[in-house]
Amino acid sequence: MDLAKVDRIVDKYQGSPAALLPILQDIQAQENWLPREALQRVADKLQVPLTRVYGMATFFRAFSLKPRGKHICTVCMGTACHVRGAPKLVEKIERDMKIRAGETTPDLEFTLETVNCVGACALGPLVILDGTYHGNITSAKLDKVLKGIGRTK
Ligand code: FES
Repeated sequence: MDLAKVDRIVDKYQGSPAALLPILQDIQAQENWLPREALQRVADKLQVPLTRVYGMATFFRAFSLKPRGKHICTVCMGTACHVRGAPKLVEKIERDMKIRAGETTPDLEFTLETVNCVGACALGPLVILDGTYHGNITSAKLDKVLKGIGRTK
């Protein structure tokens, strides 16, 4: 990661240690994950222990310490989506993208994640791509959605 970007984010909050959470949120929003060197830079700039930065980064589920792709695809595996075929969708994406759920393609373009019920069960099976909900998804519809981000098998 370009550390100048981290510097700009920290400067936006006047280098205040009290702003650690929004700083990490901004880095996560920009990069889709929290690279180690970015966390070190934040600790140095805020003059707080690296353990404190890691403590915050590991406490919130929204933060990722593993690289995540430019595009995040989340398949709901809650009960309603599960019985309507969500596992097949996960298998299809795993096959097409050559990654397992929880992994990111080597080009850092695409991450596949699963989640348990996002509260839109009537739309199941449900796939969320970059924050957009796609309900009643079939294998063919999934192909179209992934084509939209330039990902085909
Ligand atoms: S089970 Fe998928 S939204 Fe509820």
